[in-house]
Amino acid sequence: MVSDTSQRVSKDSRPADVLVVFGITGNLAKVMTFRSLYRLEKRKLLDCPIVGVAVEDWTLDELRGYARDSVEGAGEAVDEEVFGRFAERLSYVHGDLSDATTYGRVADAIKGKGSPVFYLEIPPSLFGTVVQGLSDAGMTKTARVVVEKPFGHDLASARELSAELHRSIDESQLYRIDHYLGKLGLVEILHLRFMNSMLEPVWSRNHLESVQITMAESFGVEERGHFYDPVGALRDVVVNHLMQVVAASAMEAPARRDAQTMKDAQVALFRAVAETDPAHYVRGQYDGYLKTDGVAPDSTTETYAALRLDIENWRWAGVPFFLRTGKHLAVTQTELRLVFKHPPRLGFSAMGRDAQPNQVVVRLDPSTGIRLVVEAHRSDAPGAEPITLDMEFASQGGEGPTPYEVLLHAALIGDSTPFIRQDAVEETWRVMQPLLDAPPPIHLYAQGSWGPDAADELVAGHGRWHEPWVTS
Ligand code: BG6
Repeated sequence: MVSDTSQRVSKDSRPADVLVVFGITGNLAKVMTFRSLYRLEKRKLLDCPIVGVAVEDWTLDELRGYARDSVEGAGEAVDEEVFGRFAERLSYVHGDLSDATTYGRVADAIKGKGSPVFYLEIPPSLFGTVVQGLSDAGMTKTARVVVEKPFGHDLASARELSAELHRSIDESQLYRIDHYLGKLGLVEILHLRFMNSMLEPVWSRNHLESVQITMAESFGVEERGHFYDPVGALRDVVVNHLMQVVAASAMEAPARRDAQTMKDAQVALFRAVAETDPAHYVRGQYDGYLKTDGVAPDSTTETYAALRLDIENWRWAGVPFFLRTGKHLAVTQTELRLVFKHPPRLGFSAMGRDAQPNQVVVRLDPSTGIRLVVEAHRSDAPGAEPITLDMEFASQGGEGPTPYEVLLHAALIGDSTPFIRQDAVEETWRVMQPLLDAPPPIHLYAQGSWGPDAADELVAGHGRWHEPWVTS
């Protein structure tokens, strides 16, 4: 056990001396990777060459042009000096990923490097082939391999995928990305909870009535129909992103900050989450979804999911966690909302009016903020009413780096903390598997609405869904 840990730490902590990006000509690179790497360059956090690998027969100049277009297209104002330094790092290997000679060329391109990071921005069906190819060419011994979701499409396939990768590399070398772990708001939840004696004690069933997590998007599936239709909302964002919000909101305080302790705390929480009940699951599909390119004409894929989670431990038993997400909803907004228990009814209340439950809101998107909802007596009202105490992180040091900057930098320096371990992947699939096995019927909902009415029944007995905190 001890030697296993020390091996992991030494492997983890060596900074990368080359970054190899498979699929560098693809869409994720265009919208995320180039921009994030450019921003790391600007902050002087990039310190190694970057080798792009893809099937397109491009020249290096073409790749550099694509990189510039991508950075600009992502809304970044290009500083020529910074971009020049970044472009100098790039080189390109083209080849078919199923062809062994491609890996020979990659090996030539990284000759003499002892600590490569391989970033696989390719379909998961190719992960095994590429990792095997890298291993056969002798490149994986001291490497880290970064992979993008999905990590399987259910519990069994998640296990198969991991077994396939573990044939060539061990778990400590695998860095699974869930970009929610790079979000400032998610990190803030941990700090709020564990650094404040005002908040930590009330963050439990002793004071809370329920917890609501909303991830609403006002846009649709658009040109991603081919990807989205076999996947749906539950697999696309609930089993991963929203479960990360659940973990940050509900796990116990980690004793230390190292990767293993943090991940152990997260997995301990997941283990306490009961398997979901399809009777507490509402699926919706927005009107017009079936006309999307790549979507089956009779598709019953959900673009909206609302469900209830129960956590069976001393801190949370009896406090339902309500999760909901959807495309084409009224706003784009992700938030965590703690709803406190009802205050007692007092004769003190001037108008005989019941005080409303307090709330703590952490907004994760589109910007990071914290809101407290408390009762107070406004001078323009006859009695107490809910008022809001708001804090925007933009006014307290700004929004900080984007999630992909955080994660790529962590991968490059060998900090595995913000990446997902296989046991966490398996636990989250275990929790969701009953919903995959017995999905309830789909409800249509209007674009721009808050999803199907059936979702209101889910929270019956626990108040109502609260409209997210939207700033103007
Ligand atoms: C992705 C999903 O993982 O996360 C998308 O595939 C979703 O469907 C996106 O829109 C949301 O992430 P963010 O950070 O842009 O809110």
